[in-house]
Amino acid sequence: MCGIIGFSGNVRAQDVLLDGLQRLEYRGYDSAGIAYFKETGKISIRKTAGKVRDLRAICDDNEATCGIGHTRWATHGGVTNRNAHPHKCGDVALIHNGIIENYHELVSEYGLEDRLISDTDTEVAAALLDKFYDGEDAIGAIKAIVPLLRGSFAFCILFKNHPGEIYAIRNVSPLVAAKCKEGTFIASDLTAFIEYGREYFIVPEYAILTMTDTEITMQDMDGKAIEPEMTEVSWDVTAAQKDGYPTYMLKEINEQPDAIARTITPRISGGLPNLSDDGIPDSFFEGCRDITIIACGSAMHAGMVGKSLIQEMLEVPVTVAIASEFRYEPPVITDESIVIAVSQSGETIDTLEALRLAKKKTKKTLSIVNVKGSSIARESDYVLYTHAGPEIAVASTKAYSVQMASFYLLACKLALVQKKISEDDAKKFMENLQNVSDSISAVIAQSDKIEQLTKRMLNANNTFFIGRGLDYTLSMEGALKLKEISYIHAEAYAAGELKHGTIALISEGVPVIALATQGHVYSKVISNIREVKARGAYVILLSMDEKITDRAICDTHISLPKVDDRFAVFSAVTVLQIIAYYASVGKGLDPDQPRNLAKSVTVE
Ligand code: M6R
Repeated sequence: MCGIIGFSGNVRAQDVLLDGLQRLEYRGYDSAGIAYFKETGKISIRKTAGKVRDLRAICDDNEATCGIGHTRWATHGGVTNRNAHPHKCGDVALIHNGIIENYHELVSEYGLEDRLISDTDTEVAAALLDKFYDGEDAIGAIKAIVPLLRGSFAFCILFKNHPGEIYAIRNVSPLVAAKCKEGTFIASDLTAFIEYGREYFIVPEYAILTMTDTEITMQDMDGKAIEPEMTEVSWDVTAAQKDGYPTYMLKEINEQPDAIARTITPRISGGLPNLSDDGIPDSFFEGCRDITIIACGSAMHAGMVGKSLIQEMLEVPVTVAIASEFRYEPPVITDESIVIAVSQSGETIDTLEALRLAKKKTKKTLSIVNVKGSSIARESDYVLYTHAGPEIAVASTKAYSVQMASFYLLACKLALVQKKISEDDAKKFMENLQNVSDSISAVIAQSDKIEQLTKRMLNANNTFFIGRGLDYTLSMEGALKLKEISYIHAEAYAAGELKHGTIALISEGVPVIALATQGHVYSKVISNIREVKARGAYVILLSMDEKITDRAICDTHISLPKVDDRFAVFSAVTVLQIIAYYASVGKGLDPDQPRNLAKSVTVE
């Protein structure tokens, strides 16, 4: 939530900051702002409600070489110019990602009322810093205020009398930093400055950074020097660009076949799943009596696919917990339970906190994470990195598919270790998994046809996604995708459950997207579809049949490539993603940046 960037160097800071913010915009796009040192040593601020392009429009030409920038996802205080970051209080200008939970108490305790002009928690931190800053000792001021703050934060700070220097500190909210020939960089994530260099480090929690145009130094809260642990990025700048596509989302849908191949191929040896390069020993999978999956949103839906699969192959109970709920219920897990946290960003606070809670009960935690070195990856006992590359569109597509693929790997590995599957069957299973990239490509080739059928949905007030078994889990993902980027209300229903109430909402022309890829419940789903069709629904059916022309069943049929039923999820969800995408574009919306949303949800 919120993107932050800082730069001190030998080129124009404004260009670096604005370009970086443009790349970070997926983290929040309510307002944007920059602060920089003028030649006089004074701090100047430009900020506005709106997007980075609106900020660009109000920036003048200046040659400053040190500054900080912010793109906001509003939490405290409306979307106004006043509430946009940076916040300047006296001799301090500051940007913030996170939430200061005790900001009300701080205001009264330290008498800050008169210093505040915005409605944000962030300005309170700026005011507090200014109160403790003596005009000389920037680090002293940081050390004085940080213990007073409750909540999560990543701050970049400019102090008057320290021109050319940026100070930073974080708790939970992410920050990465790098030194390149142009200068020193710090940001919420790498996409902001990847074009300048490939080596970077993750800023440790509670390390105080001082950045000049040539150096980054770090010390802990006791003043002890900290050496950065350098790491190298595994993708290049083009991965974070649109690369000729009109939107990131369309690019990312199209990247799925490669992303899945990158995620699974290095983990197959001799035709069998092999997680030794990930450092996950077979003993991890032994003797497990139950599994709990914790995640949010699409990652949680991927977990539901994992649940269906693992439960069937292993015959052990698998629970999928919404991370934000799991945190506040007594966890029903033991030291023999496996807990799997799933997250693209690796920084979703609810998932992170749920993982922390789970770790109090079991040492068998594993995360499926896309962003290298992220908090969830670092805090779990084992990590299975997905290799989707950067996912920029707010709606998750390729990250969801690689999460599903990871569950297929894990399910096969678990079943092998627990001797629930023969090696031959495991090899067939893995072969099927390797073929899913082709089936996704086959569906992408039908994009034009899928785009046409979405025209029927653009004026709908309500839509329904129905299916049974794995198809029901996909229905949830399809409905979420449609809602978040097209703002069309969508509800996912287990097809057999409709008649217990919701079928009352079906009337003439209501779009129903029906999935029927699971052989063992095929005829049942078709009966459920007939029921809605008989009540006037406009049915779009996805199945592996070559053709269905019976108008008593559906109005439009999308034929999916024929695969083993368990693997149909990959092509089917791609259709659902494309439907959502064209529904959004058809309504003239921006699928990459839907209203009210941000890519990484680092607030509770
Ligand atoms: O980064 P995470 O995978 O932890 O994010 C979880 C959800 O916030 C995310 O999947 C969200 O639901 C997406 N916008 C869905 O498209």
